[in-house]
Amino acid sequence: MGRSRIDGKTRVVGILGDPVAHTLSPAMHNAAFGALGLNFVYLPFHVRREELPAAVAGVRALGLAGVNVTVPHKEAVLPYLDEVVEEARLIGAVNTVVNNKGRLKGYNTDATGFLKAVAEAGFDPKEAAAVVLGAGGAARAVSVALALAGTRRIAIFNRTHSRAETLAEEVAAATGARVMAFPWEELPKCGADLIGAAGIVVQTTSLGMHPEEAAAPPVPEEAFRKGQLVVDVIYNPPQTRFLRLAEKAGARTQNGLGMLLYQGAAAFELWTGCEAPVAVMREALKIGLG
Ligand code: ATR
Repeated sequence: MGRSRIDGKTRVVGILGDPVAHTLSPAMHNAAFGALGLNFVYLPFHVRREELPAAVAGVRALGLAGVNVTVPHKEAVLPYLDEVVEEARLIGAVNTVVNNKGRLKGYNTDATGFLKAVAEAGFDPKEAAAVVLGAGGAARAVSVALALAGTRRIAIFNRTHSRAETLAEEVAAATGARVMAFPWEELPKCGADLIGAAGIVVQTTSLGMHPEEAAAPPVPEEAFRKGQLVVDVIYNPPQTRFLRLAEKAGARTQNGLGMLLYQGAAAFELWTGCEAPVAVMREALKIGLG
């Protein structure tokens, strides 16, 4: 079902980012609006760093219903919003903004989207032990989400150790969870034991992303085990080398499509107040990925 018309009552949402040319969000959201017959449209907005304040002012001035915010604006956007929910403040990043009559409220649906996606794979974060690879924006959202959901212990490995240390300290201070940083070089050695003990392992670095599909974090296949969930936030390719190894070792695996889908579904519900048509959105993502 496509949209039949754009008229004087059409509500506009979109995504602010740089780059935005390859985003799958317009396809996902417009398919959802079409399926429910909602008079909304979702557009890409290419916004350079220096134009962010003007773009946010534009969201108010033009009366957009809301926006998604992506790289490189997720952290920078916070001071321009009227209100930021606690979870997004703890993460220090906003990916969804709702415009309520000119009052802009920021959310982080990456975190809720991640939890929803892993719940679908049967993972219960309560009292779990987790390993997170990477210490960038995605790692921060995942770590805070897990900590707030009751994960008992989180081990963070990152190539630049100081970033892992900073992230671990900040997440521990913000949530009270036990979060520790470990050197990347330990991954093939002591890190393998931590991975074996973890209920969930989340790969958030760009290693293995298209077109560098041969790359993977240095985790030996023997480190993985049956009964654990191994997640890669990458969705292109659909199965990274990292996930292939984990699957060979008998672990359950999940790529980044679920997180992308459910962060979108949560944003959709915030903007429209309607339950998101998840199956339609998933299908649109799959078509978008070819
Ligand atoms: P995102 O917001 O997607 O998490 P990011 O903030 O740029 O992106 O973080 C990228 C992550 O991938 C970082 O953890 C980065 O490690 P550094 O902090 O050392 O830069 C990690 N990364 C990127 N290329 C890598 C590589 N070749 N080897 C190991 N880690 C890599």
